[in-house]
Amino acid sequence: MEKTFMMVKPDGVQRQLIGKIVSRFESKGLHLVGAKLMQIPVSLAEQHYGEHNGKPFFGELVEFITSGPVFAMVWEGENVIEISRTMMGKTKPAEALPGTIRGDYGLFVGKNIIHGSDSPESAEREIGLFFKAEELVEYDKDI
Ligand code: CMP
Repeated sequence: MEKTFMMVKPDGVQRQLIGKIVSRFESKGLHLVGAKLMQIPVSLAEQHYGEHNGKPFFGELVEFITSGPVFAMVWEGENVIEISRTMMGKTKPAEALPGTIRGDYGLFVGKNIIHGSDSPESAEREIGLFFKAEELVEYDKDI
């Protein structure tokens, strides 16, 4: 079954949106298989956002994501990567439609509430950066 990495960013944690965000994905029928509240070290932030290194906003991005706790998650489900991206909404606030997480809660391109992997390759890479294999659980989803 497909897995993806997502995290509620420091602005989402500070605004007490963790429960609402988790609830949306649960209601959709996706399954949480890993989660932790953590403060990201600068070295991990630089690795995670490696593809943006050199862009004008890279410093700001690393500074923000390490500024407070994030809620890191691994979700599992049929087509979870594409579905979660649709549910998060576009990165640019003006393009994030109402009904999406960013569309309903976000106003800024940097402080945009949530991150989610954009491809199977980035999901595998990001899950590996944030979680050890033994931190992910398997369970019967049909109960
Ligand atoms: P995210 O999905 O976490 O992946 C890369 C992040 O870079 C993105 O969300 C935005 O928060 C951030 N980002 C993209 N463009 C800009 C920008 N112009 N200024 C600041 N942050 C940006």
